[in-house]
Amino acid sequence: MSEATDPTSAGTDVPWWRRGVVYQVYIRSFADGDGDGTGDIEGLRSRLPYLRDLGVDAVWINPWYQSPLADGGYDVTDYRVIEPRYGNVEQAERLIAEANGLGIKVIADLVPNHSSDQHVWFQEAIAAAPGDPARSRYHIRDGRGPDGAEPPTDWASVFGGPAWTRLDDGQWYLHLFAPEQPDLNWDHPEVRDEFHAVLRFWLDRGIDGFRIDVAHGLVKDPTFPDLGAETQQILGSPRKANHAHWDRDGVHEIVRGWREILDGYDDRMMVAEAWVAPNRLSLYLRPDEYHQSFNFSFLESPWDAEQFGTVITEGAAAAAEVGSTSTWVLSNHDVMRETTRYGLPNDTNWRTWPVTGPVDALDVDLGRRRARAAALLFLGLPGSAYIYQGEELGLPEAWDLPAEVLDDPVWERSGHTQKGRDGCRVPLPWTADGPSLGFGDGKPWLPQPIGWSDLAAEVQADDAASSLSLYRMALALRRRWAAADEELEVLDLGADVVAYRRGSGMTCVVNMGDEPIDLPEHTEILLRSDPAGDGRLAPDDAVWLR
Ligand code: BGC
Repeated sequence: MSEATDPTSAGTDVPWWRRGVVYQVYIRSFADGDGDGTGDIEGLRSRLPYLRDLGVDAVWINPWYQSPLADGGYDVTDYRVIEPRYGNVEQAERLIAEANGLGIKVIADLVPNHSSDQHVWFQEAIAAAPGDPARSRYHIRDGRGPDGAEPPTDWASVFGGPAWTRLDDGQWYLHLFAPEQPDLNWDHPEVRDEFHAVLRFWLDRGIDGFRIDVAHGLVKDPTFPDLGAETQQILGSPRKANHAHWDRDGVHEIVRGWREILDGYDDRMMVAEAWVAPNRLSLYLRPDEYHQSFNFSFLESPWDAEQFGTVITEGAAAAAEVGSTSTWVLSNHDVMRETTRYGLPNDTNWRTWPVTGPVDALDVDLGRRRARAAALLFLGLPGSAYIYQGEELGLPEAWDLPAEVLDDPVWERSGHTQKGRDGCRVPLPWTADGPSLGFGDGKPWLPQPIGWSDLAAEVQADDAASSLSLYRMALALRRRWAAADEELEVLDLGADVVAYRRGSGMTCVVNMGDEPIDLPEHTEILLRSDPAGDGRLAPDDAVWLR
């Protein structure tokens, strides 16, 4: 059979990102090269062979720029400088070159909606008098009420509390996230020019793409209207078109400017973190805008066949409509880890990050089983797949972190009613023994839970039944069976079953019901989520067949 007609030969004529597997590196917690307890570029470099062996096509590195880390680096002081705890620009360049040499692309995380309050622009702004042009790169306004003691609007911060903080001179500045993250004013030409220069800076250093943070933010309603009782939620902004500060039409002109710059380089891409209504997402994917946008519906779906079926059908169709492919995401640095999520009753609001942890409600084994099945479900779909570090190890949420180590602004801003996202950001276990389980020589910035030795990468690498082995096998098979084409046929195998067939002839079946089911007709079982599985497909198991 010639390569052109062999359905299992991975296409080489499509841009890599359309079908690529992107591994998300939360750099602070990936690997610590210098023993200071914080992950860094040298740590990541030393683990590139692990990522090659895992079989990923790219890494997306969470913000690595100079930052006080008030929000884990999403508060940037200087977009052209690497945070010294992580390394320096020369090391970043070496990392990109070495990763590329191993066939791995490198995607940086760009944070344009806000800077750090330590950014020179904000420092200049607050040192200047009210009305001074130095203030106009941010949203700094007079308050309302007697003496302007009330904030300019009733807008709420995503992390809790008001979105405005008062300066000593009486004016207020806007921060949709933490007070350490003042929102930039994108109507200001210098803000636009600066980000163009920053894009070029990293493109010139070989970066292969950008993940754009809060891509639906940036533009604000110039009339600054009140919003009433509306509340904000992390990764769950109200998905309304032309909301006062989300998903405004004006954002697209900005994106087109960025795309023009990227198109001046070979083979670069941008993926948007845009929390918008499904019918608005395609606007971000027009040919002169983003290449891709995260489809978060998959990670938001409860363990329910009908809901997963809808998410898959709609996600694939929406992307195809605009000539793109969907991005499938099971978890990331902002959500409860899937091994824990799937072990909780379906109606649990895991976004509230319970302070004590719903220990009584958690079924650990069930969560593990379902997480493995979910891996086959999302890795077999057409499009690109984003794997969050530690997902391949089946790490659970570390929800027993003591209050004194919690670092996520959500903890303070929620008045200690929500623990926040630290539980999915604990440093990775690499070895069964040694200081911080091989993460590095120092005390890790967040403690690793007892019992994580068994989950260490080196332990799992030698165990054919481990989660790591499942991911490795799935990624190897994916190249032949799931990344070779973009065809998808959703199959109806019963109300409790999610199933689809790919153009290559591969079929994925997941049993989300309570009873075992028969496997559909097949000539070969490629992979099962339960390595001990035999014969019929048990509840919460998945299989790839052909
Ligand atoms: C990032 C979060 C961050 C927020 C503010 C998000 O969407 O993923 O981790 O806290 O943007 O920058």
